[in-house]
Amino acid sequence: MSVKSILKMGDPRLLRIAQPVTAFDTDELHLLITDLLDTMRAADGAGLAAPQIGIDLQVVIFGTNAPNPRYPQAPVVPRTVLINPVITPLDAVEEEDWEGCLSVPGLRGKVPRFCRIRYTGFDQFGDMIDRTVEGFHARVVQHECDHLIGKLYPMHVRDFAQFGFTEVLFPQLAP
Ligand code: NI
Repeated sequence: MSVKSILKMGDPRLLRIAQPVTAFDTDELHLLITDLLDTMRAADGAGLAAPQIGIDLQVVIFGTNAPNPRYPQAPVVPRTVLINPVITPLDAVEEEDWEGCLSVPGLRGKVPRFCRIRYTGFDQFGDMIDRTVEGFHARVVQHECDHLIGKLYPMHVRDFAQFGFTEVLFPQLAP
């Protein structure tokens, strides 16, 4: 187990289309999940995708089972390992809300996401995950899975008056 360094925006490895995982319940995959969890925990992240630590695989983790200090107002999302995910919006309704990203440190931006989605995929043991979620949970999943197709949240910002430094936008969250 180890805390890995997180790639920052501008690194071309964050722009790749990640490869699907083909073998589950392997030592290699369990080690990757442990590294992702350790790295996410160390950074107080709401989620982390394998490409953010330079691993070109369709693996994301999210959720904390406890309130997140970086998003103290956000509802709790169950800790989840999601592999080879497929997201289906349940309708066309979107809402804009603030996001941050460990690969875009110090900044927040307001971006649109689908409110209600179904997502499917597998955990690290190869067991199927199939959930229908909304709100913050749906936002986190869409944000993390974007990392698997080379997208970072600033690419979705529509109004650049609502994109800036966390310490300026939200002084109460500044360390
Ligand atoms: Ni991110």
